[in-house]
Amino acid sequence: MKALVTGAAGFVGSSISARLLAEGWDVVGVDAMTDYYEVDRKEENLARLGQGFDLVRAPLAEVDLDALLAGVDVVFHQAGQPGVRSSWGQDFATYLEANVAATQALLEAVRRAPHVSRVVYASSSSVYGDAERFPTSELDRPAPISPYGVTKLAAEHLCSLYASQFGLPTVSLRYFTVFGPRQRPDMAFTRFLTAAATGGQITVYGTGEQIRDFTYVDDVVEANLLAATSEVKPGTVLNVAGGTHVSVNEVLEEVAALAGGRLDVRRVARSDGDVTRTGGDATRAAEVLGWQPRVGIVEGLARQWEWVRDRFE
Ligand code: UGA
Repeated sequence: MKALVTGAAGFVGSSISARLLAEGWDVVGVDAMTDYYEVDRKEENLARLGQGFDLVRAPLAEVDLDALLAGVDVVFHQAGQPGVRSSWGQDFATYLEANVAATQALLEAVRRAPHVSRVVYASSSSVYGDAERFPTSELDRPAPISPYGVTKLAAEHLCSLYASQFGLPTVSLRYFTVFGPRQRPDMAFTRFLTAAATGGQITVYGTGEQIRDFTYVDDVVEANLLAATSEVKPGTVLNVAGGTHVSVNEVLEEVAALAGGRLDVRRVARSDGDVTRTGGDATRAAEVLGWQPRVGIVEGLARQWEWVRDRFE
């Protein structure tokens, strides 16, 4: 089997690529290598993939997508402009281009590539905004409260639209706050653990009472593999949610326990677009894919702590 992984140098993209390579897939990657966060981190992610991994370093908008899709069976579309907090203001143009326009161009190219048997799109829990109920199911009304969430939902609609109109074999996976080794440096756990390891200061946005359903990266990778190879109706949308119900303050207690000391915590105003709570109902992913999360918050955070500490040794 041959896969195209977009965003292959990123946190989730490189983790999917590593798993595919380990399972004997041919993998070609594409990544814009943007400087939204340190490019060195992406180079570290790529170094892990070693030889036999072919990476095109360019934005999706600039590559020859037909050539990139040659011989490809499955597309794992992980590329995008991440980050809820920075999607306001002028930067929105970047989100539109990287998340919406690039997805549309990719779907058009897949229409011209009938050998592609599946497109797995990395959607996001941010499409729900402040959800009406918990656990939130795929049938609940999405209502994003950040521009980022709006673009992730728009691209998800494009995936379902190309499925309904042209039969494109798309599946959208709504990831709930992914964590674990190689997590992006702008995300809470990597920030908190790095501060704990280096004696730096932690910034908490708002009261810290906001709750997240955190999902361990290997579980997200597993969901992608299952979505690529299971029988799934085109246009299907599935929550990929770890099932945790943990506040940021509780995360800090866990970080303090791991680091074995007091944390230097500064509290600032809530960040615009930051949802109060996420909690996904993953019943459908269990039914359709046979997927279940396996790594919980305590074990996963400990593994991420090991990774952060190794980087500073
Ligand atoms: C994360 C990802 O960053 C998004 O790309 C993704 O789409 C989204 O999950 C999702 O589930 O769809 P978020 O939940 O904000 O978004 O993830 P974190 O950066 O790990 O933040 C978790 C919580 O910690 C948020 O409430 C945030 O405000 C808070 N936080 C984060 C802090 O208090 N301090 C920080 O330094 C960072």
